[in-house]
Amino acid sequence: MVTGIAFLLVILDNSSTSSARLLLNRTMVMSKEHVRRNLLDNGIGHTPPMGWNSWNHFGCNINEEIIRETADAMVSTGLAALGYQYINIDDCWGELNRDSEGNMVAKASTFPSGMKALADYVHSKGLKLGIYSDAGNLTCSQQMPGSLGHEDQDAKTFASWGIDYLKYDNCANNGISPKERYPPMSEALLNTGRPIFFSLCEWGQEDPATWGKSVGNSWRTTGDIEDNWDSMTSRADINDQWASYAGPGGWNDPDMLEVGNGGMTTEEYRAHFSIWALAKAPLLIGCDIRTLDVTTQELLNNSEVIAVNQDNLGVQGKKVKSMDGLEVWAGPLSDNKVAVVIWNRNSYTATVTASFSDIGLESGTSVDARDLWDHSTQSSVSGEISAQLDSHACKMYVLTRN
Ligand SMILES: *[C@@H]1O[C@H](CO)[C@@H](O)[C@H](O)[C@H]1NC(C)=O
Ligand SMILES: *[C@@H]1O[C@H](CO)[C@@H](O)[C@H](O)[C@H]1NC(C)=O
Ligand SMILES: *[C@@H]1O[C@H](CO)[C@@H](O)[C@H](O)[C@H]1NC(C)=O
Repeated sequence: MVTGIAFLLVILDNSSTSSARLLLNRTMVMSKEHVRRNLLDNGIGHTPPMGWNSWNHFGCNINEEIIRETADAMVSTGLAALGYQYINIDDCWGELNRDSEGNMVAKASTFPSGMKALADYVHSKGLKLGIYSDAGNLTCSQQMPGSLGHEDQDAKTFASWGIDYLKYDNCANNGISPKERYPPMSEALLNTGRPIFFSLCEWGQEDPATWGKSVGNSWRTTGDIEDNWDSMTSRADINDQWASYAGPGGWNDPDMLEVGNGGMTTEEYRAHFSIWALAKAPLLIGCDIRTLDVTTQELLNNSEVIAVNQDNLGVQGKKVKSMDGLEVWAGPLSDNKVAVVIWNRNSYTATVTASFSDIGLESGTSVDARDLWDHSTQSSVSGEISAQLDSHACKMYVLTRN
């Protein structure tokens, strides 16, 4: 009933005669209300999305073979079985010009079979296909049209191809507020009737955590990540400020994973993956998964770390203590468990300690501490948990109360 009232108020607010007629048409109101409820509870985005995106590794150098082979690799590496389901194509998939009817078209030289065929292929592997557009005149590569002013037509095109996820970028935006530019695509996607995960990529420009949840399923809180320590840690810190806004249906997005792209050490990538998992960030792999080395695979395929990210409670873990580069991040999980990351951000080895009071545990509590990277359990731990950590290294635990 409450949503119904809210919806009627929206209609009343828009005082054209057709809206007034709409108000009288209960059938239409009910069906619209149904669609709107689906935005918030449509079975997508209940936990953070997991998958892959082409940008961090390939940039504009993509084609349909790469996408098909990536879908194959997602299955053959075992990553699909761990929950990585979206195969997301970023910028540069389309022709610069729309066709004679104004439709966006796949680039003939690189996607000759077209997007419908590619979606069919990806779906045949049990995976989902994502695509990219922009809430402006052109995409960021300037090699494709944006969707501003073409939202309904483009959403229908994407739905007709069988697209399951849309990343919506922020270039060539005419200086119009994202709060005006993103909702029309949100509505357009809903109106297609196809559940399409809507990923807002307005770079944290107008604090999207504060309004994104009624528009999309995730929102970027930061500018683009780069494959280095400073960029990764600063994305983590900026994103952390918005922790309280995340939850089932809508997630803070500190940008995609760089794990496996070569610019950080293994311990830095382990910290990157651990913090993204704890912060309930989208886990979108950004390396070439057709040629995964064992180290990268073991970072990305840690089912215990993934389980923290996908925990049903959906509460974003956050930085709870920071002293001289020694950090404690923590958050609650379902079944009264607690996830903890201790992290040495210094350039030297140091001991990092999470005292139970830092992570919301009463001092007398005894827990079993599962080390998610070592795959070992310390029984009956109380008071604090502590470890000596190499430069930039972390440990990640799940604490279960005894
Ligand atoms: C009311 O809306 C429904 C759903 O869109 C439509 O099928 C129906 O024809 C409309 N009825 C009137 C009287 O306009
Ligand atoms: C976008 O297109 C509109 C309408 O054609 C035009 O007025 C505007 O200048 C363009 N903006 C940019 C940034 O290209
Ligand atoms: C993770 O990757 C490693 C290295 O390839 C492999 O041995 C292990 O079986 C994989 N684990 C899962 C759960 O897929």
